Amino acid sequence: MYNFAYHNPVHILFGDDAIAQLPTLIPAGSRLMMTYGQGSIQRNGVYQRVLAALHDWPLLEFGGLEANPRYETCLRAVDICRQEGITFLLAVGGGSVLDGTKLIAAATPFVGDPWTLLTKEAPVERALPLGCVQTLPATGSEMNGFAVISRASTQEKLGFGSPYLYPRFALLDPTTTFSLHPRQIANGIVDTFVHVLEQYLTQPVQAALQDRQAEAILLTLIEAAPQVRAAPQDYAVRANLMWCATQGLNGLIGCGVPQDWSTHLIGHELTALYGLDHGQSLAVVLPGVWLYNRATKEEKLVQYGRRVWGMTEGSPEQLSLAAIERTEAFFREVGVKTRLSEYGIGQEAVTAVAERLTARRVRLGELGNIDGNAVATILQMRL
Ligand code: NZQ
Ligand code: ZN
Repeated sequence: MYNFAYHNPVHILFGDDAIAQLPTLIPAGSRLMMTYGQGSIQRNGVYQRVLAALHDWPLLEFGGLEANPRYETCLRAVDICRQEGITFLLAVGGGSVLDGTKLIAAATPFVGDPWTLLTKEAPVERALPLGCVQTLPATGSEMNGFAVISRASTQEKLGFGSPYLYPRFALLDPTTTFSLHPRQIANGIVDTFVHVLEQYLTQPVQAALQDRQAEAILLTLIEAAPQVRAAPQDYAVRANLMWCATQGLNGLIGCGVPQDWSTHLIGHELTALYGLDHGQSLAVVLPGVWLYNRATKEEKLVQYGRRVWGMTEGSPEQLSLAAIERTEAFFREVGVKTRLSEYGIGQEAVTAVAERLTARRVRLGELGNIDGNAVATILQMRL
């Protein structure tokens, strides 16, 4: 296990009464702006519950943040924050609303071109404080300092992060997720599953606890996936999914272990260029990354096959191949397709994504062995 530091300042309130606690969490005297997406919170009553909890707070609203939040939209909110002297942001919605709000938080006090936060790793030296009501279990954004932003004009989708961007608090009420479309639930399960795998399925470093914490999240998701389809109104199942998502990307299971993230970075290009949902892009790419790096990941693939899928028979090579196949089958059982052709995407994507990543001179994966040519090989396997 490598050396590491771990600090996570997010105050979590979990349960069906969490939203009512809002007034106790926002600093007194804050000039507050609430951000949200394209209307789901008005349709499912979360908006009304937030306003009821905040009945005596003066409040500005900024709605309209898109799924895969757009830079251009966030900048409109930045102008308003500057004009109105906003001092606290409250994001209400899924990961996109929260990510967009993180960019607004960083860009409002930023001097210079905020796009450099995403393209040039311009440091975030301060940010507006923010809190969130997370309504979609998937990204883990509620308990981390990262955000992924899309720029419509250039079809780019890039991430950035800073310790200043951790939410001050995250309210996690599983009842807010009852209104999710099955497609979003499925995407969320795949996203959480892949977050765990990107931190787990690398090389063994004798991090016994982190391995078992990761396996616990995977096993819980495998158990919950058919349950949420069979009993969509079951609170306990929703609660388990929500807590898995938060735990999947809050830094804990990644402490002191190598991390991959190539599936995410290749997947972001598929979203940017072809509009795949984030979860869909991951289900397409992950089996290809694993087949490409099967030999270097073999030990962990075997451990994963044995401990998570209960596999017993076969050579390490056979077990690792079976673990890859089983994972793709799981994504399909959850309801997410795993081939580019199933989304109407063909050979052109192999070339386009590989060219983009070659131009950026990427070296992806925990061993840095995935360059643009390797990306082409990986996507070729996923047509
Ligand atoms: O916009 P509204 O009307 O709110 O509708 C949303 C959106 O259409 C809807 N929705 C959200 N909560 C709902 C609901 N509908 C009914 N009931 C509810 N309770 O669901 C749709 C998708 O929402 P979105 O926020 O886009 O989904 P998700 O939470 O999966 O976020 C995806 C974004 O997060 C990024 C992804 O790249 C993508 O841009 N990620 C962020 C990460 C992070 N910050 O750490 C890590 C992830 O790997 C990921 O990259
Ligand atoms: Zn993700």
